[in-house]
Amino acid sequence: MKKIPTEVFNNWVTLGKDKGMQQNHSKAVENMISYATQRLKKFSFIDAGCGNGWVVRNVSKIENCISATGIDGAFNMIEKAKKEDPLNNYFCDNLIQWSPSEKVDLVHSMEVLYYVEKPESLIHHIYSNWLKDKARLIIGIDFYFENTNSHDWPEKFGISMMQLFDESTWKSFLINVGFKKVESWRVGAKKNWSGTLILTGTK
Ligand SMILES: C[S@@+](CC[C@H](N)C(=O)[O-])C[C@H]1O[C@@H](n2cnc3c(N)ncnc32)[C@H](O)[C@@H]1O
Repeated sequence: MKKIPTEVFNNWVTLGKDKGMQQNHSKAVENMISYATQRLKKFSFIDAGCGNGWVVRNVSKIENCISATGIDGAFNMIEKAKKEDPLNNYFCDNLIQWSPSEKVDLVHSMEVLYYVEKPESLIHHIYSNWLKDKARLIIGIDFYFENTNSHDWPEKFGISMMQLFDESTWKSFLINVGFKKVESWRVGAKKNWSGTLILTGTK
């Protein structure tokens, strides 16, 4: 029987598989964070679906970062994040209903947004309730239509909710909710792997 995403990822902490995600995602995340922060002066940051908090910890060390927050629906991920890092802010909640007390300059999300029923609604929620004017959203996705090697993941990992869209559909989600200067590119493509699809835009 398949399980909901946050239940599966809760178990992944017990199995130590959160570390594997960190390794597999680090190249794409490095690319995203360096692109998104290169021209920022002082900035506040949220990682949506932060897992064990490794991106929050890394970004908080960037000189211009004034606050770094992680949010994830898997209790064990957030427990681990808080244990390793008492300085930054972590919340265990569902992305579709949570909002920060103060809007931020940059929202990042790696390998998360396809685990909800309506990704476009979540993107709209982030646009309206998380981001300041002119702030940026940047997301990375490995499970997408052009990356055919990822298509068996719902079966392979036993996850009940994984939404498969192509690059142009993901791009249209950002454009439809009002993001400007929407761009997409891929990182780490190799044989039988189309790379991480990166999408970004500003409010
Ligand atoms: C593939 S993992 C990626 C974790 C982290 N971004 C990383 O790169 O290591 C997906 C994460 O999204 C979280 N997640 C999925 N759906 C969620 C939801 N609706 N609300 C909050 N977290 C969610 C899971 O608990 C999991 O930690």
